[in-house]
This record gives sequence, structure tokens and C-alpha cells, in this order.
Amino acid sequence: MADKLIIFDTTLRDGEQSPGASMTREEKLRIARQLERLRVDVIEAGFAASSNGDFEAVKSIADAIKDSTVCSLSRANDRDIARAAEALKGANSGRIHTFIATSPLHMEKKLRMTPDQVFEQAKQSVRFARNLVGDVEFSPEDGYRSDMDFLCRILEAVIAEGANTINVPDTVGYAVPELYGEFIRTLRERIPNSDQAIWSVHCHNDLGMAVANSLAGVKIGGARQVECTINGLGERAGNCSLEEVVMAVKTRRDYFGLDIGIDTSHIVAASRMVSQTTGFVVQPNKAVVGANAFAHASGIHQDGVLKARDTYEIMRAEDVGWTTNKIVLGKLSGRNAFKQRLQDLGVTLESETEINNAFAKFKELADRKSEIFDEDILALVSDESVTSEKEQYGFVSMAQHSETGERPHASVVFTVDGKEVRSQSDGNGPVDASLKAIESHVKSGAEMVLYSVNAISGSTESQGEVTVRLQNSGRVVNGVGSDPDIVVASAKAYLSALNKLHSKADRVAAQG
Ligand code: KIV
Ligand code: ZN
Repeated sequence: MADKLIIFDTTLRDGEQSPGASMTREEKLRIARQLERLRVDVIEAGFAASSNGDFEAVKSIADAIKDSTVCSLSRANDRDIARAAEALKGANSGRIHTFIATSPLHMEKKLRMTPDQVFEQAKQSVRFARNLVGDVEFSPEDGYRSDMDFLCRILEAVIAEGANTINVPDTVGYAVPELYGEFIRTLRERIPNSDQAIWSVHCHNDLGMAVANSLAGVKIGGARQVECTINGLGERAGNCSLEEVVMAVKTRRDYFGLDIGIDTSHIVAASRMVSQTTGFVVQPNKAVVGANAFAHASGIHQDGVLKARDTYEIMRAEDVGWTTNKIVLGKLSGRNAFKQRLQDLGVTLESETEINNAFAKFKELADRKSEIFDEDILALVSDESVTSEKEQYGFVSMAQHSETGERPHASVVFTVDGKEVRSQSDGNGPVDASLKAIESHVKSGAEMVLYSVNAISGSTESQGEVTVRLQNSGRVVNGVGSDPDIVVASAKAYLSALNKLHSKADRVAAQG
């Protein structure tokens, strides 16, 4: 039997650390459910001690997820570890992932600790964590830039204390494939008790080599866990991309000889969900999940694919969940058909109220748009007004006027804590006028750092999906809104971002 490669997804922890990618508890729970559907082995749900919001998110995910192991990151100290254990209490299978920096640079400049102090703290933390849970992972942060002798000493000690998984991060994305693979192999060869732990790779993409480095860690180094994120989401240039690593190991099973438990048919839905939630768009030429990944534009390629698919295709689009745009529901579809479609799409709404909210929104949309696609339904349920009972701001209606040669003007009606207000403004364009109208009442003072529009199902008849990213006092939030009218979608996205801006969070950075 082939060895199994464990897929450890850290979209909700390392991915979320990317500025602007912060997610609400509901959003994280929805993504965790999709990861479970994907049959990810381990879901790193967050960093419980970093904020009350993160604690609650880890806890909700630990309580809800049954098939995947749920993990919380934790710095190597008793307080963080106890908090992680507390958040994981309800998990079927829970893991504490504790870390401390081990490179000379990080120990001296960031931690201001001697190697001996770091050694003692790592040992003591793993011992403490193992007293609380049976599954403990240890990461020497900036491991790849650490001294080999010191790393061997510390990793041998934490394995002796009971760490079941040893993860070797290339925190700054400095590695190259062959050297990283050999680095892992050397560690495994030199550490006497290395066979008592599963070895894991965690690569950042600063030089565009995160996937290649991870695969080398597996092939050359013998690692059997890969840490990755959907769409490669993550700080700076991101993390190793789950969809790429999974499809590489699956498609080239002849070379890697490893089994993976992932149900790849849910990959595209997971990619869309993460991109819709964070506002981080997927580039069209991105492997596996980019819009063009399976599109054959050139005549020669089209001809070849029609004659024999494998002339130009090494994977089947449907195997990763690509479907052709299908009209799935219309104006006359009833609540049961709608509920069934949600189920087919793997969307779980918690209560009858949420289903009713979503159905009401669907009816509204079907009145204005004759053909409803799966993408429309996914956008509709990702609107937080479906799942949140109380939002500070809610869109009601708007009117705007724009004519060549005249300055556009907008009037927006929206609710503030349940009370309707009307606000007006002019602007450079209709979108600008609408957002200025809202801002003139709310006076958030936030700076807009991103505005993007995407046609949900590709044509001008489709809904526009707008992402607005706002920044205020160091906080960055995304709001997403969709509507067949992109000016309305923009107003909804702006209000959604304001709702998030007003939910306070006090985070501690994982690498801080
Ligand atoms: O990149 C890194 O070093 C990390 C650790 C906290 C595992 O994300
Ligand atoms: Zn990382």
C-alpha cells in the first residue's frame, strides 16, 4: 500500500494573516465546512489566543467539524496553549500546533532569547500541550534559515516530549526545491527519534517556489504532511497552494507514489468561496482554478482536444469541480427546489430563518434576472444579511443619475441599527457618488484600499460582484456585495465592509 500524504489546510490561519483577508466567524465556519467536504485531513482553524474573535472561530469550527482534525496555532507558552486547548474542547479530533522561532536572526532580534532559552521553552511547551491533547505539532519558525545542529537538538527534544508532527517552515520563502528537500532529509537522517513523528512541510511563495519546495520536501525529504492554503492565500506572495499540490501528487502518482484523501471535485467551489469571501481574485491563468486553466483558445489545441482529450489535457476539468454554466433555477422555482439546490452545492444554512432569508433574496433576484446560475446562488448565500441576524448597516434602495457631461448624483436609502436614513452625494461616477452618499452619513473616515468588480457568470447579463476593502486605524476589512446592477452591488459591498469595520477585534500576529 502507498503511503498517505496528509493535507493540512491553513487558509483560515496563515491565509487569513494576509492583510485584507480577515474573515468573520460565520465566513470561517462556511469555509471550514467546505474544507471538510473536500476531505482535508487537518484544518488549521485559527490562532485561538490571538483574539476573542479567533478563539470563538476556532471553537465554532471545532464544535461543528466532525471528519477533519481541527487545529489551533499557539505560541510556545502555557497561556496560549491552554487557550488553544480550551477552544478545541468540542473537537472530535483536535490538534495544538505550537511554534517558536529558531533561526539566529529571529532568536536574537525578535525574541531576544538565547538558543538555550528557546530550547527549554520549546520542550516545556510541547510537554504542557501533550498533557492537554494527544495530538501536538511543533514548528521551529524560520526553520529553514536555522542552524542544522541546533535544529536537530531542539527537534529531537520535542519529539521526546511527545510532538507527533514536526513541521519545518520556510517562513520567508527563501528555499529552493532541491536544497529544501535535502534539508528535510538531513533532519530525518540525523535525528535519532525522527521516525516517531510525521514530517511536515510549510512553504511560503516569495520566490514563486512554494509548491515546488513542498513537493521536493515530500519526494526528497520524505515529508508526509503538506501545509497549504486554498488559492495559495497568505501573507506577501502567499503559501503553498492546496489545489496545485494536490493535483500534482494525484496527476503524477506514477512519480510520487502517494495516496491523498482529498475529494478533488470540491476544489473549484472551495476556490470560489475563498476568493468571494476575501476579495482576493484568482488570476485567470492560475493552475487548476484559474478561469483559463482548462480553456483551449488556439485552433490547434481545440482541434486536438476534440479528437482526443489527452492531446492537451493532463487533468479533467470536471475532476476538480468545473461545471459549465447551467441555468439551475428560475422565477417559478419553489422553496423545496431552492433548498435542494443549496444541498447539491454543499451549502449548509444553520436554521430555517436563514433558508427563508436566502429564499427571499433568491426570489428578489429571480424577478430581475431570468436565468439563475449556481454562481448566483453561491453569491447570494455569501451575503452576510442571509446569516447574520443583526447588522448595523443594511441596504434598502437607491437612485442615481448619470449623463454624459454632467456630474453623477446618487441618493441611497439604508438602515442604521434598524432605522432608515437617506443620504445623497455627487461623485466622479455613479459608484463614487453612491459610496460618498453613504460615507457622508456614516463618517467612518476609512480609506478605500481596493475596489473591484467581477461578473459572476461571465456576461453583462450576470450579476456584478463587488469587493470593497477598507482600512481604518490599522484594521483592514473586505465587504462583498452582488447585484445585477453594479452600482447597487457597490453600495452593498461598502455597507458590508462598514459592518465588519465596526466589529472590533484585537489580534496578535502569529509571527509577531
Ligand atoms: O511560516 C511560518 O513559519 C508559520 C509558522 C507559524 C508555522 O506560519
Ligand atoms: Zn506560514
